[in-house]
Parts: sequence; C-alpha cells; structure tokens
Amino acid sequence: MKRLSLFITLILTLSVGIAKAGEGMWIPMLLQYNEKEMQEMGMKITAEDIYSINHSSLKDAIVLFGGGCTGEIVSDQGLLLTNHHCGYGYIQKHSSVEHDYLTNGFWAMNRGEELPCPGLSVIFLREMRDVTAQVLEGITIDTPEDERKAKIDENMKKIKAQIEKETQYKIRIEPFFLGNEYYLMLNEVYTDVRLVGCPPSNIGKFGGDTDNWVWPRHTGDFSVFRVYADKDGRPADYGKDNVPYKPAKHLEISLKGAEEGDFAFVFGYPAHTNEYLPAVAVDQEANLIDPIRVDLRGKVLDIYNKYQEQDPKVRIQYAAKHANIGNGWKKWMGVTEGINHFHGVEKKNEFETRFQEWALGARNRYMYIDLLKDFKKNYYDLKPYELAYTYLAEAGLRIELINFAGRFARLSEVTKDTPQEEIDKMIASLKTASANFFKDYYEPIDREVAAMLLNEYLKAQSADFRPAFLNDIKDVDGYVDNLFNKSMFTDEAKVNGFLDNFKANKAKKLANDPALKVYQSLIGFYRNEVYDHISEINTNIDRLQRIYMKGQMDMQPDKRLFPDANFTLRVTYGKVEGFKPQDGKTYKHFTTLEGIMEKENPDIYDYVVEPRLKELFNNKDYGRYADKDGKMHVAFTASVHTTGGNSGSPILNAEGQLLGLNFDRCWEGTMSDLIYDPDICRNISVDIRYVLFIIDKFAGAGHLIDEMTIVE
Ligand code: ARG
Ligand code: GLU
Repeated sequence: MKRLSLFITLILTLSVGIAKAGEGMWIPMLLQYNEKEMQEMGMKITAEDIYSINHSSLKDAIVLFGGGCTGEIVSDQGLLLTNHHCGYGYIQKHSSVEHDYLTNGFWAMNRGEELPCPGLSVIFLREMRDVTAQVLEGITIDTPEDERKAKIDENMKKIKAQIEKETQYKIRIEPFFLGNEYYLMLNEVYTDVRLVGCPPSNIGKFGGDTDNWVWPRHTGDFSVFRVYADKDGRPADYGKDNVPYKPAKHLEISLKGAEEGDFAFVFGYPAHTNEYLPAVAVDQEANLIDPIRVDLRGKVLDIYNKYQEQDPKVRIQYAAKHANIGNGWKKWMGVTEGINHFHGVEKKNEFETRFQEWALGARNRYMYIDLLKDFKKNYYDLKPYELAYTYLAEAGLRIELINFAGRFARLSEVTKDTPQEEIDKMIASLKTASANFFKDYYEPIDREVAAMLLNEYLKAQSADFRPAFLNDIKDVDGYVDNLFNKSMFTDEAKVNGFLDNFKANKAKKLANDPALKVYQSLIGFYRNEVYDHISEINTNIDRLQRIYMKGQMDMQPDKRLFPDANFTLRVTYGKVEGFKPQDGKTYKHFTTLEGIMEKENPDIYDYVVEPRLKELFNNKDYGRYADKDGKMHVAFTASVHTTGGNSGSPILNAEGQLLGLNFDRCWEGTMSDLIYDPDICRNISVDIRYVLFIIDKFAGAGHLIDEMTIVE
C-alpha cells in the first residue's frame, strides 16, 4: 500500500515536473540542463557540441538572416541556406522582365556570377552571457515602474560601456522571462551577402498561399546565398576584394532522412511567443480579437478572390496583398480552433486556481495574491480600446484608397515656410509611392471592400468608439460612391499632375480631399481616444506579467520553464512525427514528389509544375537523393516548437546533421505561440534531399553540392 502511494506520488510529480516533449525554446548557453532529456530522446551529441564558447560548435553555423529569418552555413566557403520566402525580397530586387529570377530561378555558375544584395546582413552569435544581476542591480519588487525602467537603462549603459572595451563585437542585451532575467549577446554582423541561387517560384513557392500553413505540403522553400568577409575573415561591406567567409563550423548534411519517431532539433531565431499569459488574455485573444480579424479578413479575401478569378491581371496585382492578409487570417483561425479544441482557457484557469492557493500559502508570496484579479481588471479595461484598435487596423485602414491618401498627410501640412528642399523630397517619395500603388490598384475591388468594411465597422462599434466620420454616414453605399468619385486618389493622372504642379498654397486643397479627411479622422480618433489608454493599460499588464512569470517560476521550482521567444537564438527539440488533426484523420509525417504530380494543375498558378521536374520524376532520376523507399521525399513534419523567425532554421538529426529547413507550421497547431500541445503542434520542413536534388539534378548546379559535406 505504502509503496503504491509512493509510486503514485512519483508519477504525479514527474508529470508535473517535465515539460511536455516537444515544448520549449531553450537558451543555447543553458542547454546542459536539457542534455539528459535530449539524449534520452535519441540525441547522440552533447550540449557542448551545440553551443560552446571554448571550441567550434553548431552555433557557429547559424545566423539571423536579414533581420527576420534564420540561415545556416553549409560549406567552409560561407555557403548559406535559408527559405525561398526569406530570400524572396532580394530575388525580386534582382529580377526584371529580361531576368525574371522569380519565375525562372537563378543559379550562379561561378563566384563571379553571385549577386550582391545591398541591405542584407547576417548575424552570428559569438557569445552569450547572463547579466541579470548587473541589469537588475538596485531594483526590488517594490521599485516603481518608471524608476525601474530608468535604472535598467542606466545599468545597461554601464554594462555596454564596460564590455565595449574588451570586445570588437556588437553588444545586444535583451530581457528574458518577461524581464526577470537579462542576457547579453555578442554578435558579429556580416553585410556582404550574395545571392547564389534559387529555384523557380513554382518550386520555391509551390502551393503558394493555397497551401500556406497547410499539411500535406510540397514546397521547395529554399534559396542559397554566400557570406563574404575581408581577407582576415572580418565583416566588411561589399567589395571586390572580399573573400568567401570561412566559418568556425559548417553543418554536415545527412542523406539518410528521418524515420517516424526519430529525434530532431531546430536551431534558430524564433521571434515572439506568449506562453505565460493568464486565462483572461488567452480568452480575449483567441475568442474575441482573432475571430474579428479572421472574419473581416475572410470577407476581404472573398472579394479579392472573386475579382482575381475573373481577370489574370488582377490576380497578379492582388497576389502579394492576398498573401499578406491571408497569412494572418489562416494562422489566427488555427489559434482559435486550437485553443478551444485543447480547452486552453480552461486549462489556464485550472492552473490559476492552484496558483492562487499557492500564493495564499505563505506570507512572503504577498505580491502574487492580487495578480489574477488585477489581470482581469486590466484586460477588462483594455477590451474596448483593443476592439477600437482592431477595427481601425482591420477595417478603416484596410481600405486602400484611405491608406494611400494617408501617405499625403504630411504634404497637406506644408506651409509657405516649409523649405523647398523638404517639399521636393516629399514629392519624390510620393511619386514612387504613387507608381507602386497604381500598378497594383483595382478600384472596383476597393469600392466593394470599402462598403463591406464600413458596414461592419458601423455594426460592431458603438458611436463613442469609432472615428467621427463614421457617425455622419447615413447610407454606406452612397457614402462610398461619393468618396471614390470625389477623391483625387483614385486617379493616377490627377495625382501625378497634382504632384508635378505642387505649391504650398495647394496644401489646403489636398487637406480637403475626402479620402485624406477620412484618414485624418481615423488617425485622430486613435491619437485622441485610444492610444493613451492602450499604452497605460499595457504598462500595467507588462508589470503584472513580469511578476506573474516570477510567480510561475517560484511555484514550480522543479519544472524547467523556457523564456518566451524574443528573436534570440534558441534550440527546440522533439520528434519527426505526423499527427491526427481531427477524429478519424491521420497525417503521415512526410510527402513525396508523387504529391506534386497529384496537385499539378496547369490552370492554377500555385500548382504549375516545371516540365524539367516532371521529366526527372518520370525517369525517377533522383540520383543519391532518393529515400530508401525509392521515392523523392519533399517535406516532413515534426513535433518541434517553432514560430515565425524560425523560417530557414536547420532541422537536425541525432548527430547534429542537417535533415531539412524549417519553413512553416500546420495551421491546426498555430496556438503553440500561446500554448503548446504535443498532439497537434507540428512544424513543417523541406527535406534537405529535395533541396540538393533541385540544386543538382534540376538546376545542374552540382558545383555547390561539391562544396558541402555530405554524409551518405
Ligand atoms: N506561413 C509562413 C510564415 O508565416 C510562410 C509565409 C510565406 N509563404 C506564403 N505562401 N505566403 O511566414
Ligand atoms: N513561415 C514562418 C516564418 O517565416 C514560420 C512559420 C511559423 O510561424 O512557425 O518564420
């Protein structure tokens, strides 16, 4: 009897004590605490092999790419892999009608053909240090918030000044655990990064927005760059004398693939998560704000779709807008579904009941007692302003005409005292903006969107929570017609003529344009009625959240918690595995080239297949890149906790060799930014063997493969 109860206690403590497998974005310098679990899950290397400052380690091959994605070095010549959608902007910049690299792909056949990418940088982390004690010196739990902030700024300045003396690296200090800990990063920033190759978009973006966030997936989402340095290997701006960067470490590439259940980890730069919110915040996001965004965006996308299907020109004009709006739309749909399916709010509530009991259990926990109550009050206060903001962003400013007119707000404030030089600058930049706007503008879409959104705005927001112009509208359709007929911003010739002949005395006429007036009404409402409230309440919430985080750590001293993502380098690990998104539905963990042929549809832009790819498929000409099942594997899923920013991150096997590049998540599990559920949260990676197959067999750029270290 006694033994049994001991056993049960053990099980109970264990299940509370261990983070769910797959969950967590871990700080590399503290990875020794995860090493045992990682090795039990199958890892064959050590934490020191992943992050070390004493000898070369995998971290030396990982970069923050272009400020928003991850990349990895795969040769001793600075060759770098990231996603196609991460390199997209740079590929686009080099593309023209004669050299349409987006459509046709691009391959530098020698170093001389590699294309410089001004503005692109990659950042290597050289070292990380815990500076919590120094940053929080002189601060207690009772320090008032503004004093705390000033003190932290002062302390950080001191630390930076000190470290600057001993290092050549760039110093970055960031809060972790919502301000309970601080870490310092020593970074090296390389600014000569060149485009080496990319597949055509119908490989690199295969499935497009239709398949975005969706499994099964068949996207060859990769592009190839090279990092250059000066002769000493130090960062240098673009220059002819620069040489390929020699990393301390480059990744080995495995051609073995992964079996279901195999250990895998992702090493990269996740951007933002919110894993420690109270129930009330999760509820508000998943059940109030996200559904409104999804609903409004869904209605906008319906209108886009209708016109895009009718006219190929409109399809292209609205492709990027559709992609942008659609990315959030699908993701938030997943968040709401996931949170409700998983009973996320209820689970948070159960935890809070226990937290409250714990807080009341000892006198030195006084600072935690009112937290949950205070959260409720603040989120309650926040709600109307958050809604007002959501409608402003998703309804008001979504109307293209109004948004575009807003670009002229500064010009409309010009007076006879404004220096001509300043005016000329404004005019020049507005001319560019105008050309860009009209190239992709289709007025019938915008009129229909405007009428729909203004109706929604009026229905949802009461008179005291909406901009003044809305309160004057009697008949929305008539109002929209009038707005679009009277504003000059629907007419490219008029706008250009106005810009060409602009004089200070015309500013007033501009200010009277009905579309610009609507813009001013929206922004004025935000400035006068919303902004101060939101920022004040958010300051309160940040403070509560910091203390709540500390409480959650104090309450569970045996549970290793991970800090929310903050665009710093992290290790996340799990298993290669499929999942069951719904009752009766099971997803396999990988897809193959067969699936691309099944999806092929020459009439649907997202599903056009390159003839050359088909030829390789028909001949089963896969070389050494085929799986042992004889097929060409394209993508795979794993239970590894990732988020935006992890795009392009390497997913590695038990030996630390490259298996693929992370590029997305399954929409059913996008709630992992708030709560991770190992049953349905899956990241999606492109199989490295497909990447090499495309480089080698499809593009004939085998010289790049020769640089890499391949493990067969
Ligand atoms: N969903 C991915 C992300 O959040 C990929 C987005 C780019 N791909 C696309 N088809 N829009 O960044
Ligand atoms: N596509 C995302 C990115 O660009 C990764 C997907 C996610 O949010 O996990 O970082």
